[in-house]
Amino acid sequence: MISKKMLAALNKQIKEELYSSYLYLSMSAYADHQNLKGFAHWLRLQAAEENAHGLRIMDYLLSIGQPVTLEAIDKPPAQFGTPKAMFESVLKHEQKITAFIHKLYEQAVEEQDYRTQIMLQWFVTEQIEEEEQVQEILARIEAVDEKMSAILWIDKELKKRGGD
Ligand code: FEO
Repeated sequence: MISKKMLAALNKQIKEELYSSYLYLSMSAYADHQNLKGFAHWLRLQAAEENAHGLRIMDYLLSIGQPVTLEAIDKPPAQFGTPKAMFESVLKHEQKITAFIHKLYEQAVEEQDYRTQIMLQWFVTEQIEEEEQVQEILARIEAVDEKMSAILWIDKELKKRGGD
């Protein structure tokens, strides 16, 4: 048996994972619409991964004979600004999910709920990987931004040339 509190918290986490999927799907559509097909592809795959995360928790609850109560999923935004702003949002979102997972783990430890702890360990590791991947993408975007700023600075300097 798991506690009622843990059951409610895990049902809520299913919703958080499904919301993540919905959020990345919305970002994918936005990126595709901007003709950023690579970003769109990455985000669509990420949306599928998040859906699988929700199913993973759902299957855990079912495997230990617990009921699953699906909650309403919030509406995600439709506009995300520049690729840099969009991936900053992804990072912020993943950090929030990491905090939720850690909170769940703390609760499982407090309740001496060993089965849930083992299930959550997979998510603790997954969150490290996800945050690392997003940080890497952001670093690449920032490197390009810096190069672009340098080009724009040179361009401004060249404009200063007077006629002979
Ligand atoms: Fe399932 Fe990206 O957290």
